[in-house]
Amino acid sequence: MSVTDPAHTDLMEELAAAGSGRDPLDEAVSEEVLYRTLQRFRLPYKFALDEITTKISILRQEFEETHDHSPIEHVRTRLKTPESVIDKVRRLGLPATLPTIEAQVRDIAGVRVVCPFASDVYWISDMLTSQPDLTVMEVEDYIITPKENGYRSLHLLVTIPVFLSDRTEHVPVELQIRTIAMDFWASVEHSIYYKYDGTVPPGLADELKVAAETAASLDATMSDLRSEVRPDR
Ligand code: GTP
Ligand code: MG
Repeated sequence: MSVTDPAHTDLMEELAAAGSGRDPLDEAVSEEVLYRTLQRFRLPYKFALDEITTKISILRQEFEETHDHSPIEHVRTRLKTPESVIDKVRRLGLPATLPTIEAQVRDIAGVRVVCPFASDVYWISDMLTSQPDLTVMEVEDYIITPKENGYRSLHLLVTIPVFLSDRTEHVPVELQIRTIAMDFWASVEHSIYYKYDGTVPPGLADELKVAAETAASLDATMSDLRSEVRPDR
């Protein structure tokens, strides 16, 4: 995206001017301006979510016409709040400026697609990534290579064009595609992680790891059972 184009110049100046203050009142003003700026800055990310949601919905409806199951259980979208965008750049030890945010915070727009079967996960991913307007920036396959704690999911970072009145922006979207079992595990792990402020006691961590293996084996069994009925997919 082009945050330095004329449409953004005023905001950037406002931001720079507000950011130069030192006393607490000036800092409060600067925060306020930054939040307002980010609200506006987030808009193309919201449009990118609209675009990708439509793509997913088309794939789903078309698939349902010709198959005995839906490849998607549910889809959730998330637009990072200005607060959490600022938290993230600060956590990375970077300045909270638009160019830095644009370059470093790649998950302002997030989509999670939850599928019944692992084969659906890769089907959705293949269908989306083969569309010519979508550019794949990064693939992290935590299904083939789960995280140390047992986390499994397919992560894609893509950019999608958003056609605005005066320009086209290629907006990054973080996609997480996973099965119902992977999603169930991730949501339980997430609450435990937060409850213990990021330091999960070893006993619980071990139990989570076992649960992750159980979830993986459930996915495998379900796929086998389904292929008994429908050997084609
Ligand atoms: P962040 O975006 O700052 O989290 O860093 P990253 O880009 O290195 O992270 P990664 O791609 O590994 O994960 C991005 C997102 O995936 C997270 O924000 C979570 O939503 C999800 N995720 C990754 N690892 C885990 C995990 O161990 N447990 C759960 N519950 N979710 C995870
Ligand atoms: Mg990320």
